Amino acid sequence: MKRKMRVGILTGGGDCPGLNAVIRAVAKKLIIENNVEIIGIKDGYEGLIRNYYKRLDYADVSGILTLGGTILGTSNIANPYRQAVKHRGKTVMRDVSKKVIENIKKMKFDSIVCIGGDGTLTIASLLYKDGIPVVGVPKTIDNDIRGTDVTFGFDTAVAIATEGIDRLHTTAQSHHRVMLVEVMGRTAGWIALYAGIAGGGDIILIPEIPFEIEKIASLVKERYKRGSRFSIIVVAEGAKPKGGKVVIKRIVQESTIAVRLGGISMLLGKQLEELTGIETRAVMMGHLLRGGSPTSTDRVLATQLGTAAAEFVRKKKFGMMVGVKGNSFAAVALKEVAKGPRIIKANNQLVSVARCVGTSFGD
Ligand code: F6P
Repeated sequence: MKRKMRVGILTGGGDCPGLNAVIRAVAKKLIIENNVEIIGIKDGYEGLIRNYYKRLDYADVSGILTLGGTILGTSNIANPYRQAVKHRGKTVMRDVSKKVIENIKKMKFDSIVCIGGDGTLTIASLLYKDGIPVVGVPKTIDNDIRGTDVTFGFDTAVAIATEGIDRLHTTAQSHHRVMLVEVMGRTAGWIALYAGIAGGGDIILIPEIPFEIEKIASLVKERYKRGSRFSIIVVAEGAKPKGGKVVIKRIVQESTIAVRLGGISMLLGKQLEELTGIETRAVMMGHLLRGGSPTSTDRVLATQLGTAAAEFVRKKKFGMMVGVKGNSFAAVALKEVAKGPRIIKANNQLVSVARCVGTSFGD
């Protein structure tokens, strides 16, 4: 009797609303149309290193469409090509890819669907180079993956950030304060840009446009004089002053991208209060943007991407990820992702739109 086709699914990197919707779509399509055996690989690449698996039957992927997080667990540390291991009491980095490839062969995976951001997809492209049939699905709330116009999770993050701005508006207005809202976005300010426009932010600060604190202070004072005795400043965690540096929250040595940002809003708040004399508060939204149920837009996108990835598996389009190009889906080489993040260009139309309605970028 011919053995069933066996497909592994893993989720890597930070969690993101819509991950379960993708898992569900990949698994359901392959089970319904091809009676494929689906194996969930637990905790991202950690599962391939340590052989942590669980079989996913149809019932296991039912009822997870609206669920936040990932039923498989994830890791933003595990990396077969640079894995942190203990050696004589010290943490050292080791290439354990040969063992991982052996494990994959032992498991008889016909292919593996890797759902993740730049780190996860870059590792997937290395595994492909080493002979593993992989298919990628781009994921991140940051919306900054090269080769795709949009990623699932972004719409949800923007919706949560916008709600945060709306809620802070009332306090800003009632107390005549400056309110800074810090959102995620290390190298790309997509969340700050979209939520800033949607929430009517007076100033939007993004990593791509370095700011000048004096300019921000004079804008805030001008608004005050004009009778708008409050200001809302939406700031991406990776925003920095002209010629200055980002604010680092912590270093995670084991991680491919070791630096974790956070705190620019606190620093700016203090400086602005000193420069303007206006009471200022800062709120860091941080991981709130990644939590909970995906929006309907993200549920639809995740379902489209998941079914497209299942089709890639069937057609043996390996070494590729599903990219969104305009209104359709395209196969994009995984190695594209490693070329760096998709940042906001100087001539971005939304930046111009924001400037047209009087929003400043602090530049
Ligand atoms: O890439 C997703 C992301 O949420 C970034 O926006 C943020 O800088 C980073 O992950 C935070 O990572 P961690 O969850 O490890 O703090």
